[in-house]
Amino acid sequence: MESSTLLKEKVNKGFMVEGLEDMNEEYLKALKQTLVIVGDTELLSVPPLLTVYDQAPTLNNKITALAIMQDEIGHAHIAYRLLKDLGEDTEELLYNRAPNRWKNPYAFDFELSNWIELGVFNALFDRAGYTLLGDAGEHTSYGPWRRALLKVDKEELFHLRNGEIIMKSAMEKPELREEVQRAVDWMFLMALEFFGVEDNLKSRSQQLEYKLKGRTNDELRQKWLSTAVPFCETIGVKVPAHYDEKLERFVINVPFPCKFDIENKKWLFDQPDTWENVIQRFKKRGPQNKQFVERIQKGALQLEELRKEVG
Ligand SMILES: [Fe+2]
Ligand SMILES: [Fe+2]
Repeated sequence: MESSTLLKEKVNKGFMVEGLEDMNEEYLKALKQTLVIVGDTELLSVPPLLTVYDQAPTLNNKITALAIMQDEIGHAHIAYRLLKDLGEDTEELLYNRAPNRWKNPYAFDFELSNWIELGVFNALFDRAGYTLLGDAGEHTSYGPWRRALLKVDKEELFHLRNGEIIMKSAMEKPELREEVQRAVDWMFLMALEFFGVEDNLKSRSQQLEYKLKGRTNDELRQKWLSTAVPFCETIGVKVPAHYDEKLERFVINVPFPCKFDIENKKWLFDQPDTWENVIQRFKKRGPQNKQFVERIQKGALQLEELRKEVG
């Protein structure tokens, strides 16, 4: 087993970790944590998309949404497969884990209200996935994951472009503009939360030190803003962030983090919050967490029951 300092130095000089023999316990733990978050995020993106799938306005839209869900299940499979190779019991992880132990983003614990929200989901949330995984694809020291991300990257780009197309064409229809704005109003800040705690509040990160990822939370948030803000502005959607020429970075115009009215899917800008409370909100999970995880687990549990009956 390699000492932590030595392995950190090696990966920062470009050493690629290929298997268990190249890791130490700390690396393995950080890698597994990362892959569980990634797998859960990919897989749990499907239930919210499914909530409005039957509202697709055209057959073409419907097929695209199906293709996206299929991609996400494929992306989840990659992460869980890597976990299995690292010795994790993925059957247990997938089918016996309590809903509140899943690590998908809080934003995925909500039903979507309409087709436009599916577009905004793709344009903003898949963009967050694209940003985070793009970083891992460029920087991660874990070879098997880095290679698998080549495929994921292309597909995520397709998802976010699909979202952009849905948003753009909706903005061209006067009767839908308000719906796009309403969706962005709650989903924009949700997407910003994907990147986690502000850098100056964060203790040292094994993920960064072992180069599982390359950029910090705030750097990734800036990267997301650098494409999300211009896109929304171009199509005429208002967003609570702008580029500050003097500071040379994007600035959020509203209190962030801030309290969220779960029932009405509305940010309470008169109630700024702390990251500590946000983490508590994440841990409590959103309204559909239980239902969505149960949907994933249902088939496997039913099959198990059937086997017992037959068996
Ligand atoms: Fe994905
Ligand atoms: Fe995606």
